[in-house]
Amino acid sequence: MTAFARNQWYVAAYGREVGRELLGRTILDEAIVFYRTEGEGDGAAGTVVALADRCVHRRYPLSASRLDGDRVVCGYHGFTYDTTGTCVSVPGQKRVPRTARVTAYPVVERDSLVWVWIGDPALADDTAVPRAPHLADTARWTTVGGMEPIDCDYGLLVDNLLDLSHETYLHGGYIGTPEVADTPMTTEVDEGAGVVRVSRHMDDAACPPFYARSTGIEGRITRWQDIEYHAPCLYLLHSRIAPRGVLPNPDGSDPNAFHVEITYAITPSTGRHVYDFWAVSRDFGLGDEEMSAFLHDFNREVVMQDVDALNLLQKTLESEPAGYQELSINIDTGGLAARRILARLAEQGARPAGATAAGLPAGAR
Ligand code: FES
Ligand SMILES: [Fe+2]
Repeated sequence: MTAFARNQWYVAAYGREVGRELLGRTILDEAIVFYRTEGEGDGAAGTVVALADRCVHRRYPLSASRLDGDRVVCGYHGFTYDTTGTCVSVPGQKRVPRTARVTAYPVVERDSLVWVWIGDPALADDTAVPRAPHLADTARWTTVGGMEPIDCDYGLLVDNLLDLSHETYLHGGYIGTPEVADTPMTTEVDEGAGVVRVSRHMDDAACPPFYARSTGIEGRITRWQDIEYHAPCLYLLHSRIAPRGVLPNPDGSDPNAFHVEITYAITPSTGRHVYDFWAVSRDFGLGDEEMSAFLHDFNREVVMQDVDALNLLQKTLESEPAGYQELSINIDTGGLAARRILARLAEQGARPAGATAAGLPAGAR
């Protein structure tokens, strides 16, 4: 199992998913409940709160409870928690035990995503949240997206996204064409920043249906894929599509190309469960609802092809004795670099010996 890097920011939800309904998600084996406080004044959005999703009394899930203003009232016997996780009232007695509190997690809402910090709260630096500004920049980009859970080790999803030659085989007829697998790529690794960049520039490629139908380009294309993976969670694929031979201007402007930012957030839930957040942002056909519906549905089908493949791969790996020998080739360079960085980040965020998350047996991570 790929070790968890604890002292990192993770996407817990899209901002639009967190409101006045309690939302339960398990992130790095920790059950967390999310909600939004009441905003000040009419229509104002409040801030996002993240609390441990287990009541201190008998561990009833707070996500199955209810809100009273900005407080969570446990659905079993009514222990009531404020936004800091402090229990402020219990039934049948005036005195609230001093130890009655649940963990409150640091949360940042940025670029339309809700990020949560799982590790040591003293290390949570909200200036270190990786950015995906296109997601919230509706003047320049129109975005569609979703989230699909996968029953696999999150490392399998990282492998999958860092090598797009699988598009030719797994996503043929959708986004894959022969040129993707046939074109060599370059890989750059910034170990210090924990960023892996994988680029593949195709000068003369078939236009897959995903782009033919959205851009209207007929004929062959110049297709660039520039991946930027900010370990552990944020993956950006800068995709540039243009009629064959059309290049950006020397000043960097690029009016005759179509640009698509494909964003993934890879959030480990448990050792064999991962949240696969995906979004497709385009700089053309802004606000065109028909195009948005096409890109959403088509891309979801592509995502589901990966989901099915990774569910199958996880089951297959589990059915075999441990210690099998993988065989890696050039296309795996980015994925192997990502694994190295994840292992290092996990080591940095390791718990002190003997410490465990409440309720989880030692060794479960
Ligand atoms: S379990 Fe929450 S109040 Fe009893
Ligand atoms: Fe894929």
